[in-house]
Amino acid sequence: MLSYPPALLEEWMRLYYFAVDADIGSSGVSDSSLADVRALAGIGTDEMDAVVFHDSQTLGGTGVRRAVARRWAGGDADRVMVTHGSTEAIFLVMNALLRAGDEVVVLDPVYPGLGDVVRAMGCRLRPWTLSAASGWRPDLDELAALVSERTRMVVVNFPHNPTGATLTPGEQDALLSIVERAGAWLLWDGAFADLTYDAPPLPDPATRYDRAVSLGTLSKAYGLPGLRVGWCLAAPQVLERMTRVRDYTTLHLSPLVELIAERVIDAADRVLVGKHAIARRNRQAVQRWMDEQGGAITWTLPAGGVCGFPRLHEVPDVEAFCHALAREQRVMLVPGTCFGTPGHVRLGFGGSGAALETGLERLAGALRAARTPALV
Ligand SMILES: Cc1ncc(COP(=O)(O)O)c(C=O)c1O
Repeated sequence: MLSYPPALLEEWMRLYYFAVDADIGSSGVSDSSLADVRALAGIGTDEMDAVVFHDSQTLGGTGVRRAVARRWAGGDADRVMVTHGSTEAIFLVMNALLRAGDEVVVLDPVYPGLGDVVRAMGCRLRPWTLSAASGWRPDLDELAALVSERTRMVVVNFPHNPTGATLTPGEQDALLSIVERAGAWLLWDGAFADLTYDAPPLPDPATRYDRAVSLGTLSKAYGLPGLRVGWCLAAPQVLERMTRVRDYTTLHLSPLVELIAERVIDAADRVLVGKHAIARRNRQAVQRWMDEQGGAITWTLPAGGVCGFPRLHEVPDVEAFCHALAREQRVMLVPGTCFGTPGHVRLGFGGSGAALETGLERLAGALRAARTPALV
């Protein structure tokens, strides 16, 4: 039995996600209803009524695999597996490709699921550190120094949760050369791939390097975390190894979920337009708000995704501050301790403008109170 560490981020979400008025901690855009999705993707009730709840295929139904392949995998559905969110894909890939003792380079900080599964499997982690002092910019020279012929896998996520940092196309090329030279696997988590601000989305590395495995999801840019659809693009032999693990866990997705996912992916550009406009507007609103806080909180403007990782400069215990903010002000942030980085918070700005405004206003009040010495 593998020994899994407590999933701190998930525990935090369990405590507060359903208990606050304003969620300014989550990493996705605002969620869509079935009615929104049906209207945007043109799914008729007759089509939904025609779904028969038979078993689906292990790698995903043909329709949804082809839709993923058309948009992200150069049309090759043989390289696609559809999963229960990218969380399942992370678990299957790690179990298919890693063994105890393997050396694995992982971004730090990182979305905890990416590091914790590797750690639980008994692999040796070598952190590729992003630092606040350099605006979370990935340092490719540092990566080159970390990767050697002993490296089994390099695990990255760009645009990055929680900092919003990303790579330029030139840096992505350099990363691929470093990994390829070592003959290592690359796990590229592209959960926020479709959410960039000043540059187009990066090309998917799984179409360029045979040992690259890339992950995507409808949970973040598409506002459908409750649909539970993600995917993995990889060589067919890798998908076959993942299948052996899936045969003991989830077997396959629901045909109804697959129908909705297929049609959303076919309508992806239409779905993204509105979400993207809100994200862009909210990102600017957070920047203006930051500028008004007198240096109590500062961040690096995210280049992608809908979260950033500001530092609270005048709060001695940021986790205690976040507990109090959730319980007393009903506003959820995520403390940096969930990412192994105390002193920071994950601030999400993908939700409605109204929730963001409420959340920021109450956060500003709590920061002022933390700064003011208690009256004796
Ligand atoms: C970088 C990253 N990868 C994967 C996931 C898992 O998401 P899901 O299982 O909903 O696709 C998340 C969720 O926050 C994430 O931020």
